[in-house]
Amino acid sequence: MFSGKKILVGITGGIAAYKVAEVVSRLRKQHAEVHVAMTKSATEFIAPLTLRSLSANPVYVDLFDEPKLWNIEHIALAEHVDAVIVAPATANMLAKMAIGLADDFLSTVLLATRAPIFVAPAMNQAMYQHPATQDNLARLRDRGIQIIGPATGFQACGTEGIGRMSEAEEIVESLVQFFSGVELLKGKKALVTAGGTQEPLDPVRYLGNRSSGRMGYAIAQALQEAGAETILVSAPTDLLPPPGVTCISVRTALEMYDVVLSRFPEMDVVVKAAAVADYRPAVQVDQKIKKDGSSRTIELVPNPDILAELGRKKTSQILIGFAAETENLLANAQEKMLRKNVNLLVANDVTKPGAGFNSPTNIVSFLFPDGRRIDFPQMSKLEVARNLVSEIASLLVCKRSETNG
Ligand code: PMT
Repeated sequence: MFSGKKILVGITGGIAAYKVAEVVSRLRKQHAEVHVAMTKSATEFIAPLTLRSLSANPVYVDLFDEPKLWNIEHIALAEHVDAVIVAPATANMLAKMAIGLADDFLSTVLLATRAPIFVAPAMNQAMYQHPATQDNLARLRDRGIQIIGPATGFQACGTEGIGRMSEAEEIVESLVQFFSGVELLKGKKALVTAGGTQEPLDPVRYLGNRSSGRMGYAIAQALQEAGAETILVSAPTDLLPPPGVTCISVRTALEMYDVVLSRFPEMDVVVKAAAVADYRPAVQVDQKIKKDGSSRTIELVPNPDILAELGRKKTSQILIGFAAETENLLANAQEKMLRKNVNLLVANDVTKPGAGFNSPTNIVSFLFPDGRRIDFPQMSKLEVARNLVSEIASLLVCKRSETNG
């Protein structure tokens, strides 16, 4: 399963550290190249020699040790690996990760890597349930880090509760799941739009909306993780494009229209997550509009509907639209799906807490033209994006078998 994959196992100081020997062993049996980095406290629970023997690689503990393989080892290792699993992840390590503290080898690699990170928390139930730990986990989840477990049961401190590290089998299974999605869109070209367009009135003012770009950026990340060559057409946001994704910045709906339409013919998949202004001011003046005490009227003219235009032009592309609704979610979304001729429509009620604009999470339904519907609970935007990518992969498979007769 893991042939050719390079996985870093980060071990921190908890009693569950001994269970990680089995994680390393299972990964190796499934042909992963395994590297191990331990905190100093972890070495109190399990000897580096055990991990060195099981991984067949040197074990990293201290930032200032003699280099074992590369010159600047923490950076080289961070760039070398395809995934990182931190198990057990103590409350202390989760807190360090949440604030980006890099004061030892493992936390430095975690800050330097752009590989997907998994954590398997393990701690006493009171520590796990503490709001500080829950806040840190929420921040990590928001950043796309996958949290595995923890499980409930008997704890080393003698109490029962939530906080036991997940079993080795479950940890390895999460990595299997992840890597089986990695090749899903290999060789495909995808384009995603994100953010809210800005329609200028004068050199300093514009009409805009509350889109942060988070949903579209998460989709670009998930498409890229799944192997698609991904272009992100982004209206202004405060976000950094995901690594490996080509970002084209635009400001207005007309600029977005030009870029998206010109790239459309070469795409396999297009996802329109951007909040595009339906109207723009009829006139954009060159100088700042002065106040003179009188009331003003702004004349608006319609912008082109980019998604509807793509729906008319589409040949073999899989076209995904969004519907941001404040009432009659499903009926309005259904109408948009048919009118814009999309293969899948993601409906979100943007008035719900935890959904829509500028929230780290979303609550969505996927609607399909054949009448199918999948309702999802509240989840991070990256989880929504990964679910969307698996549906896109299925739609591409269906399209291929239709084409092949
Ligand atoms: O960016 P975030 O803060 O993470 O917020 C995410 C989001 C709420 C913006 C996102 O989940 C979402 O719902 N995006 C679509 C917003 C929107 O414009 O919805 P709409 O119902 O007005 O438009 C329907 C579809 O047509 C959308 O795919 C939109 O991109 C597209 N459209 C709309 C108008 C237009 N002129 N051209 C378009 O292509």
